[in-house]
Amino acid sequence: MIGSACGKVILLGEHAVVYGAPALVVGIHRGATAEASSIASGAGDVLASELVLGNTIRVCAGDDLDVARAFAALLEACDVASSVRVEVTTDLPAAAGLGCSAALGVAIVRALDGWRGIPARSPGDAARRAMAWESVFHGNPSGIDAAAAARGGCLLYQRTETGVTLREIRLAGPLSLAIGHTGIASSTRAMVEHVAKLRARKPELVDRSFEGIRALVSNARLALEANDMVGLGRLMDLNQMILSGLMLSTEEIETLCRLAREAGALGAKLTGSGGGGCVVALANDPEPILRSWEKAGFRSFSSSVLPVSADKAERSEAP
Ligand code: MEV
Repeated sequence: MIGSACGKVILLGEHAVVYGAPALVVGIHRGATAEASSIASGAGDVLASELVLGNTIRVCAGDDLDVARAFAALLEACDVASSVRVEVTTDLPAAAGLGCSAALGVAIVRALDGWRGIPARSPGDAARRAMAWESVFHGNPSGIDAAAAARGGCLLYQRTETGVTLREIRLAGPLSLAIGHTGIASSTRAMVEHVAKLRARKPELVDRSFEGIRALVSNARLALEANDMVGLGRLMDLNQMILSGLMLSTEEIETLCRLAREAGALGAKLTGSGGGGCVVALANDPEPILRSWEKAGFRSFSSSVLPVSADKAERSEAP
């Protein structure tokens, strides 16, 4: 009873997406896997269910911890009525902007469905249920991470008042990315709160920034569809400037971006919530960028875009 899901990189549009602007996201090769199996002890008590994450985390659904509460919320969203043991593994760094928690959430949903003998449901359905887990960690996430975790590929994602609009972007060519880690953990909840506070103090600055990001995303979509990687890279650089203006960048992020551009990146920016976490660089050849980052002491890896798993049409989904 194994379920899996991929990590993600936001190409453009983070933070603005929380406020209803569209964002472009891609699934990456790294991700999460979950395996569900029955346990004999406390079989009738769903809160006796166990979640095991590598050698680091082992909790029961009834424990007084965020991860246990998130697990309990997922069990409820998946209509699990008896105890189950779920073991999860991931090669995504946590708190790094790569959608680690969403990948874990979607993988667990899929493993639970398999364990209960439920035929595979749609990616949208898995993503929706994973939001029960995501909300415990992130407060009021836009849902972009869970959508990407469940589908992979390249998506234009927008949260609307009535739900979510998704459009699969058909890439005209392969998308080659270098991903570098600042080494600093970042809390999505804290960074989203930072933007909300800034918006309360300086609504014009933040709303103007979001309008700018909206325009960049719209142009980036056209660039992706036309395989204009130079244009896409420039738009990513501009997005990074706007995010810096919202005080979401850090010295390490700026260093990673600069090194990437010096090593031939077409564009580079923070990805996810900022304040630490990862930088994504678009490149014809990611190798010189990875070498430069590693030389400067930053961990990194490359990824191209995963094929899409879902049906292809544009669609709207209930929240
Ligand atoms: C999270 O990967 C990106 C943010 O836009 C938060 C969200 O969309 O929930 C910062």
